[in-house]
Amino acid sequence: MKTRYDAIIVGGGVNGGAIAFNLAKRGLKVLLLEKGLLANKASGAAAGMLGAQAELDAEGPLFHLARTSRAMFSRLSDELKMISGVDIGLMNKGMLRLSLTDREHVEHCKISKIHKQNGEAAELLTGDEARKREQALSKEIRGAMYLENDGQVEAPKLAMAFLKAASALGTVVKEYVEVHSFYFSNERITGVATNDGDFMADNVVITGGAWSEKLLKHTGIHLDSQPVKGECFSVLAETPLLSSTIFTDDCYLVPKRGGRIIVGATVLPNTFNEQVTVEGLSFLMEKAKKLVPSISQCEWESAWSGIRPHTADGLPYIGEHPAYKGLFIATGHFRNGILLSPITGEVMADLIEAKTPSIDISPFRIERCMKKGNPIQR
Ligand code: FAD
Ligand code: GLY
Repeated sequence: MKTRYDAIIVGGGVNGGAIAFNLAKRGLKVLLLEKGLLANKASGAAAGMLGAQAELDAEGPLFHLARTSRAMFSRLSDELKMISGVDIGLMNKGMLRLSLTDREHVEHCKISKIHKQNGEAAELLTGDEARKREQALSKEIRGAMYLENDGQVEAPKLAMAFLKAASALGTVVKEYVEVHSFYFSNERITGVATNDGDFMADNVVITGGAWSEKLLKHTGIHLDSQPVKGECFSVLAETPLLSSTIFTDDCYLVPKRGGRIIVGATVLPNTFNEQVTVEGLSFLMEKAKKLVPSISQCEWESAWSGIRPHTADGLPYIGEHPAYKGLFIATGHFRNGILLSPITGEVMADLIEAKTPSIDISPFRIERCMKKGNPIQR
């Protein structure tokens, strides 16, 4: 007789891995299905910034979720190393959100005040003070906000660490298995149909990233979401050029170990096309040279792209399907899925175990996709 699982996770990215890891730690029998290679989509393309303050609206509903998740990384890094053997490359050297104009500097003054009111560190620097901290910065930098608690990790390693740790704790992980549709009985999920046969479980979790919407159409809901392509490249500096991550709205530079720097990322909505283009790379190169002119002398390493899962209101979908018990969804993490993965894993495991999560997740409920005359279609 075929094994019946407590939970099937659909998608082997960082969020699928994080949920599988949390469920396996709690003793559940888990199966994770990935249609291609593990951690080979957005999670493998990400720059790894934990930019709760640099990237998110300091007053929006996502901010609290993000800073809770950011605070989980230090313990998680040790735990994942111990169970999976993978070092996720956690670095806590802060981020410098640069202002290039007076207007931006005034805006950053306001944001830094809000951060401080929320008990977060956010030091406002003049251009000279920023250059003192990071000597490679251009003379054109008007100022910066130094966010010492926004760290970074190696994103592909984090995703693989979750997946390996889940596997070490008993999760069965299968690559090249694509979920096509679902089985239901009395408005409860009972299993999934795949190219490798049927698999049965009491709970199914959709963590298919930008491809989740296509799959969820079989369950009668239409997520308000779209794919957004992002291209990146990396270079090698002979001696490390930067210590902190450099962030602007158009371009960021993330210094990794060994003098490697990731430069990202383009933002191209409405495409699943993963080609890296000359246009995308030349845009990033021009922006990066304006911020850090000496990057021109660095050795070329590589370029890649990934498809981010964006939602209409910019918030992820985290919760149970409105019509089917046991069918859960965790997607739409857009530009912050690496940062949000620890809390996503924990919250989803709580929901599956019918426990109340430690954090209010009502802004992320699935039902909001049905607002604009978008009913469930059975
Ligand atoms: P994915 O990583 O896309 O994984 C989904 C998986 O599901 C895929 O492997 C897919 O093959 C699989 N799948 C889909 N459908 C099926 C099916 N039917 N059956 C089986 N498997 C299926 N975030 C940050 O926090 N910090 C950053 O610095 C950062 N930088 C980024 C830079 C770039 C260039 C990009 C593109 C993204 C970046 N992000 C960053 C965002 C982050 O990468 C994503 O939010 C996150 O990886 C989403 O993870 P996921 O597991 O939900 O989706
Ligand atoms: N968070 C960085 C990106 O999505 O490009």
